[in-house]
Amino acid sequence: MIRPLIAANWKMHKTITESVDFARDLAGRFPELKDRDVVIAPPFTALSAVAQALRGSSIFPAAQNLHWEDQGAYTGEISAPMLADSGCRYVIIGHSERRTLFGDTNERVNRKLRAALRYDLKPIFCIGETLAEREAAQTFDIIEKQLKEGLNNIPTSDIRRLALAYEPVWAIGTGKTATTEQAQEVHEFIRNVLTTLHDRDQAAQVPILYGGSVKPDNIGTLMIQPDINGALVGGAGLDIESFAAIVRFDNT
Ligand code: PGA
Repeated sequence: MIRPLIAANWKMHKTITESVDFARDLAGRFPELKDRDVVIAPPFTALSAVAQALRGSSIFPAAQNLHWEDQGAYTGEISAPMLADSGCRYVIIGHSERRTLFGDTNERVNRKLRAALRYDLKPIFCIGETLAEREAAQTFDIIEKQLKEGLNNIPTSDIRRLALAYEPVWAIGTGKTATTEQAQEVHEFIRNVLTTLHDRDQAAQVPILYGGSVKPDNIGTLMIQPDINGALVGGAGLDIESFAAIVRFDNT
């Protein structure tokens, strides 16, 4: 059984004070998480302070991006060893906003994944099709390409160190959620591609999160699906009450 993972991606929201207040509040509400992992991804400026606020709690800090080089003349970028040094444990890689607005190709995503793994950061590797791709019946081809190219040269023994996030681009921030059947269908496909590219044992251990307009009222039905093992939450992760309600999901 895969341990569920619920992650909030705050994108470009929250000051240091707002981030730390949220982190403390959340850690106080969930002093012990026996059957799920919870992650929050503040902006870089708040990462170190959030990591400190979460120390000793069962909630972990994540970054929203990284650069693949360890150091160098890359103005404005942040490396994996810098993230590890700040207390960060997870990193979101290949989010669709990075892909569409900031030029993250599958090849760059692959370099970022390998950099994260080198420094023992757990990647949350995002993939997903656009509306045009879904309407052109290309969803599975796109997902397979993103997986193959993204995981290029990553040894099979490292696959279980990843989390995957399936985020249909048309469902992000739009209020449109994929139906649970649509999501489960793609999640099952992802698990099959991982099995073909690597092996069944490793593929069976990878949490596959769903992302795109996850809310307190749809998390339960998503989490019932056999291949949905968590959620990557944007908008609803900015509000403590709604994120806490998502973290508390009941899939029994
Ligand atoms: P949303 O964002 O929950 O606001 O749709 C999800 C994401 O971008 O990860």
